[in-house]
Amino acid sequence: ASLADQPAFDKAAFEAMIPERHRAFVEEVLERYRVPKLPAGESPYEGLLAWTHAGARSQVEIALAHPIRLLVNALGTPPRDVIDQVHARGVQVAALCGSVEHARRHVEAGVDIIVAQGSEAGGHTGEIGTMVLIPDVVDAVAPRPVLAAGGIGCGRQIAAALALGAEGAWMGSVWLATTESDLHPVAMTKVLQATSRDTVRSRSMTGKPARQLRTRWTEAWDDPASPGPLPMPLQFLLNADATTRIHRYAHLETSGAKELVGTPIGQIVGRMSRVRPVRELVHEMMTEFVDAVARVHALLEE
Ligand SMILES: Cc1cc2nc3c(=O)[nH]c(=O)nc-3n(C[C@H](O)[C@H](O)[C@H](O)COP(=O)(O)O)c2cc1C
Repeated sequence: ASLADQPAFDKAAFEAMIPERHRAFVEEVLERYRVPKLPAGESPYEGLLAWTHAGARSQVEIALAHPIRLLVNALGTPPRDVIDQVHARGVQVAALCGSVEHARRHVEAGVDIIVAQGSEAGGHTGEIGTMVLIPDVVDAVAPRPVLAAGGIGCGRQIAAALALGAEGAWMGSVWLATTESDLHPVAMTKVLQATSRDTVRSRSMTGKPARQLRTRWTEAWDDPASPGPLPMPLQFLLNADATTRIHRYAHLETSGAKELVGTPIGQIVGRMSRVRPVRELVHEMMTEFVDAVARVHALLEE
């Protein structure tokens, strides 16, 4: 479904809010990196934009049409009527948070499981690190269960999350370097080479701070010549054409598009140096988790 098909989502009205200066800046960056225009008749990928009430509510309907046990929300506390609607179907609600204040608001609204996500995480993320955030959130929402997120990619980190008081771990970035992943091949090459210093929290992708690979694109938006990212959802709408062109032409030797290719990813990227099946990754995590717990346990016996 296109944005325009979403009930009560007036795409034209949003498009009209994008200043000419921003459109000109994007075009200038694409020209600088010799990124061709899309062929006539090909339209940019706009995704299913869930960053409006109309978009998000329609996604709830779709999710509830499937046999799910848990519905997870990010970027704010889910509206109370949506939580009631989901509970009425016997499905639990989880919500991501980046601070104790967010977590308290989730609990007041009736969220069942809190996903406390530290700044290390890939995607939209706050400023507080996982090590500091998890115990604070666990204490603030007890006895409500907490899942730890942000920078968790191996068994030792899962053990650490449980030691901090979480009931489990919620992982995102680590699944990108798997045979099951559909990451763009150019982004995959960058991911496998990146160190934990190669990510940046930038508003250039969606308008809200999201951790991603540092690229010529994120750098262009940080440059003093940049007009500065627009608020969500305008920045994503502004980028739709550029993102499609960058991905489409990333393989061209004559274009610098590949330099602009990025992906949301967390600091755990530094440990992601080869592509493996999810099955193998999970098995390794479980083994490492058991070894880590045994090692710490042995310290008590010394
Ligand atoms: C490529 C990518 C896309 C993501 N997209 C979403 C999303 O659409 N909604 C969401 O709630 N979280 C999203 N996340 C965040 C994950 O749900 C998760 O909280 C985060 O990846 C945990 O931190 P980690 O990346 O260090 O594992 C995304 C993360 C990545 C890496």
